[in-house]
Amino acid sequence: MSQDQLLVKKIENGIVIDHIPAGKGFPVLKLLNIISTTKIVVASNMYSTKYGKKDIIKLEGKYLTSKEIDLISLIAPTATINRIENWEVKEKHQVKTPDVIDGVLKCRNPACITNDKYSETKTKFDLIRSQDIERNTFKCSYCGALLYYNEAIEFLMASPAMVSGLVSREIIEKTFLDTLIKKGALRIAPNANELFVFKSGRKSPNFINTGALTDGESLSKIKWAFASFVALLLEEGKLEDFDFVFGPAYKGINLAVLTCEGLNELFGMEKRYLFDRKEEKTYADKTMEQIIVGAGYFKPGSKILMVDDVITTGGTKLEALEKLKSLGEHKVVGLVLAVDRQEKMGDAVSVEGKSAVENLRDEFNLNVHSILNIQSIFNLVRGSLSGEIKQAWIDYYKRYGAVQLQ
Ligand code: CTP
Ligand code: ZN
Repeated sequence: MSQDQLLVKKIENGIVIDHIPAGKGFPVLKLLNIISTTKIVVASNMYSTKYGKKDIIKLEGKYLTSKEIDLISLIAPTATINRIENWEVKEKHQVKTPDVIDGVLKCRNPACITNDKYSETKTKFDLIRSQDIERNTFKCSYCGALLYYNEAIEFLMASPAMVSGLVSREIIEKTFLDTLIKKGALRIAPNANELFVFKSGRKSPNFINTGALTDGESLSKIKWAFASFVALLLEEGKLEDFDFVFGPAYKGINLAVLTCEGLNELFGMEKRYLFDRKEEKTYADKTMEQIIVGAGYFKPGSKILMVDDVITTGGTKLEALEKLKSLGEHKVVGLVLAVDRQEKMGDAVSVEGKSAVENLRDEFNLNVHSILNIQSIFNLVRGSLSGEIKQAWIDYYKRYGAVQLQ
């Protein structure tokens, strides 16, 4: 290990931006405008076999959007982006300068449509490449006005528009699990003789009770976790964009509300919530609003994301999908859950072939994403379990699990 490597420690989870030209580390950081709570290390003038000297930026627990990576390439075209998961380099990605820069720069031409305050046209610049990156120019796609490289970079640094609150999946999992444990929503049996007995008769070494999350601190963590998770899924292309967040009554209602609020507060997204009434109102004309609250804003063809805490049999979700039909033409783009127990349906004696989530996926074509599942929970808590109770988890999932724990 070289002296330089000793100087800058490895990180557990997050992003390492490596091979930044020497001297460009701080400009890149400025451009990203990372929120102040992120743990950041900038190493300057480190030894590089390829370039002689380089800068490195390490961001613990962060995740960069593809747009941010494109912008980094404008200042540091040689940079590599390493995604670190559990101390290991999980993904390495060489930045590439984009041909088009959308919605970030500002056109200098006052008569350009992008400067018309009554028009919502976002700016769009084509990159005109030159051998020397500092001689690159940016040409407005609408009026043809040119921006020189230094002007563009100066503009980007002065108004770093790209602040994304996106954090890595690992951080979301850990933070959310800490909340579940701290608030007593995830309970772990102390020994194999004191297991939790479920309605189905199954005796489980763990018990998830999201009903314990009624205090303000829990709510703010739920809001953060759901919004961060949904934003990450959108960025990764795992979830199609949507117009509404629907939470099935009762437990899903606050989740839909908090998700909308969090998406707006953290990411500037504008979504509306919907939820179903358990009892239909009978005292007025029967309208959509009587079955689905918030339906007044619904437009045919809109897309809906469903959210809920956990899933047992999947019955509530199916009922909810039925009720949504009253809205008319729509698409449910997916279901986001707090926790997937990854347990096969059935009871203590009879065990079906699939879990409720697998069933929704296979039978109803519903994409299900869960913030935590039993595998990720087990991986995060296993170190603190006694040998006996760890074995109880393994045995339980051998019998009832849709996954096996080791
Ligand atoms: N890194 C880190 N924390 C880890 C793992 C890696 O900070 N847990 C950093 C390394 O210090 C290095 C970068 O991530 O700056 C990439 O790691 P790696 O691929 O192991 O290094 P190299 O082989 O030198 O990368 P390259 O081939 O891109 O030069
Ligand atoms: Zn223009």
